[in-house]
Amino acid sequence: MEIPITRTSLPKQKYTDESKLGFGVVFTDHMFIANHDEERGWHDARIVPYRPLEIDPASPVLHYSIEIFEGLKAYLYEDGEVGLFRPEQNAARMNRSAYRMCLPPIDEQLQLDAIETLVDLERDWVPRAPGTALYLRPTMIGDGCRLGVHSAQKHIYFIICSPSGAFYPNGIKPVRIHIEDAYVRAVRGGTGNAKTGGNYASSLLAAVMAQEKGFDQVLWLDGRENRYIEEVGAMNTMFVIDGVLTTPAINGSILEGITRMSVLELAGEFGIPVCERAIPVDELFEAYEADALTEAFGTGTAAVISPIGELEYKGKSICLGAEIGPVAKRMYDTLTGIQTGRLADARGWTKIVPRKHG
Ligand code: PLP
Ligand code: COI
Repeated sequence: MEIPITRTSLPKQKYTDESKLGFGVVFTDHMFIANHDEERGWHDARIVPYRPLEIDPASPVLHYSIEIFEGLKAYLYEDGEVGLFRPEQNAARMNRSAYRMCLPPIDEQLQLDAIETLVDLERDWVPRAPGTALYLRPTMIGDGCRLGVHSAQKHIYFIICSPSGAFYPNGIKPVRIHIEDAYVRAVRGGTGNAKTGGNYASSLLAAVMAQEKGFDQVLWLDGRENRYIEEVGAMNTMFVIDGVLTTPAINGSILEGITRMSVLELAGEFGIPVCERAIPVDELFEAYEADALTEAFGTGTAAVISPIGELEYKGKSICLGAEIGPVAKRMYDTLTGIQTGRLADARGWTKIVPRKHG
């Protein structure tokens, strides 16, 4: 699909020191936007200069968090090409989230065309320093002018781009995680498996409290029994127990991570045994005491592979050391190798962005 482009007349100054990019603080010159209403469906797909949105103060997104989003990255290859990692998975998940939040599905090919055209236009913004990428944030919000609690009358889908470095300020250094025993993030039957803003809003207080105690993030337990490991705020969790790569099963309350899925597929190829199941928090401590728990790490687009150095729960700690473990390291090297084009992609995971506008 041909997407009309209005180029900015005021290009922004680009950062000079990529090592100081941080995550999600710098934004590029342009954004993609499309509108939806009942009569016209999705229409007016276009790329325009990055600018504030104008929405009605009565919009459902502002009152009831009627919104969903995605996160994916564009990487600069050594030969100058720019590649995306499994973008069709993000487009599919966007529509699964849309279903859960009563938002209208958006054609997956349109999503992919929008991502490719925008990244092509912004290719000079893709950072080159190791560990950096152009983070893309497709988002859909409920717009309109009604305060009743029902699905929105109008919708906006947009994509913004942010050249970004490591999600955790310490890069690939192991993170310290607090296992939360009072607050919960999601319950079975709730919205935990949708990528919707409310999940993140409701997780903030516990995260702030954990950060005040020196932890980087919170690991959530299930909302029904407060007993089973779920996920961290922005990543799925994996544990190596007795040599088995063990991770919480997809149960409706955790996000179906694309990095999670990719790591499990790689483990299968590497001959690493994999088990997706419910993991009681007590079992982690028992395994640790029996020297059977050798690694813990998180997986996510922003977080990549993030080794967990410490897990604290009710005053007890699991300490896994200050170095990344061998399974996490192999996954990190393989995944980032494929994502940045350094390793051959035999799986068809990467998509080179065609050059048309950039
Ligand atoms: N879990 C949550 C709550 C997330 O926000 C994310 C990030 O997107 C993930 C897991 C990891 O998902 P993915 O690997 O698709 O980025
Ligand atoms: C991502 O990894 O893309 C995320 O969405 C994490 C984000 C919540 C910061």
